Parts: sequence; structure tokens; C-alpha cells
Amino acid sequence: MLISGHGSNLRALFAACAGPTYPAEIVSVVSDRAEAPGLAYAQAAGTCSAVIAHQSRQAFAAQAEALLRDQRVQLVCLAGFMRVLDAAFVEAWRDRIINIHPSLLPAFPGLHPQSQALAAGVRFTGCTVHFVRREVDTGPIISQAVVPIHPDDDEASLAVRILGVEHRLYPLTVRLIAEGRVRVVADKVEIEGWRAPKIALQNPDSCW
Ligand code: GRF
Repeated sequence: MLISGHGSNLRALFAACAGPTYPAEIVSVVSDRAEAPGLAYAQAAGTCSAVIAHQSRQAFAAQAEALLRDQRVQLVCLAGFMRVLDAAFVEAWRDRIINIHPSLLPAFPGLHPQSQALAAGVRFTGCTVHFVRREVDTGPIISQAVVPIHPDDDEASLAVRILGVEHRLYPLTVRLIAEGRVRVVADKVEIEGWRAPKIALQNPDSCW
């Protein structure tokens, strides 16, 4: 996993991996910031962890590449990793790097997606797990979850509500990938055994 900060998604994945039937394990945690709380959590859990300070994109990629190979990493999960990855690194790991973003992409990419959603006045936002491509917050979408916006929301309250859903969506998505049910076809994701929900959501939820 690549992280920069708090690491609540990392903790959610650790919790999922502790389940007896979960088909993946976290073998390595890398942070670009030594003070990232998520890094301390990984260290306490006894997982291989490292700080790779971000000098240049290429230098970071070279060190990350060596570590990922050494640890025989099969899937790179970004969770609150605040750096743009080197384009050659992204290509080398094509369809083996995923990211979670707190909006329904392609809406509201980049920084402060919760504020962007509030400013746009949308009734729903959510979170997205996607394969990573060169451009920030782009790439084939694997999974999404919808989160309602409340009239009294601010950026912080909305972020908390979305995070709670991220903590379910990310482990579910990693499970699907680890089970070999996810493939990219013509830059879109197909998931074996997936069914779309039968009904639509609406907000307000009882106006007729
Ligand atoms: C999450 O909202 C994630 O979607 C975004 O950064 C935040 C990371 O939170 N990319 P945490 O460090 O996992 O708590």
C-alpha cells in the first residue's frame, strides 16, 4: 500500500485481511511521509514498512519498484497517497495499481472533492475505486458507492460519511481483484458475477 497520512483505509484493509477467508494480505506499506500515522500502524502490526521520501517522481518510482519487487507485491493500493506517480511506473504496473477517491468519478477529481460536490449542489456523491492511469484520478472504474449529501453538511461532515463507506468499498474491491474476478477490457472493467442494483436511489427519498 502507498499512503501519505491518516491511514484509515489502510486500517480497514488490515481488518479485512485478518478475516479467515479473505484472499489477500498486506505485504508492504510505503509512505512518503515519516510522520504518517498509517505507517506507525503498519509498523505496530509487524508489516514490512518503509519511508520513501519524495525527491523526484523518478527517484521515488525507482525505490518503490525495488521494494515492490523484493516483496513480490501483486497489487499496489493507493490510499490517501498525495503524490503523482511517475508515468513510466504507472505504465509498468498497468492494471496493478488501484486508488480510492472520495467522489463518484469522473465527477470532482483532484483536491477537495467533498467541497466540489457541495459547491455543485449535487444530492449524492460517493467514492470510487479505479485502476490508475497517468492523469490524476482517471482510469477504469472498478467499483463505486453512493453517499447522500445532507442539507447541513460541510466538507468535514461529508468527508466522514464518505470515509465510512470507503472502508467497506476498498476491502470489497480488493477481494474481487484477489479472487480474479476483475478484468480490464477496452479500458473498461468487467466483474465476473456482478449484478447491477435493481432500483434507483433518490434524494429526497419520499417526495412522491
Ligand atoms: C480518503 O478519503 C481517500 O479516498 C483519499 O484520501 C483519503 C485517505 O484517507 N484518496 P485515509 O488516509 O485512508 O484515512
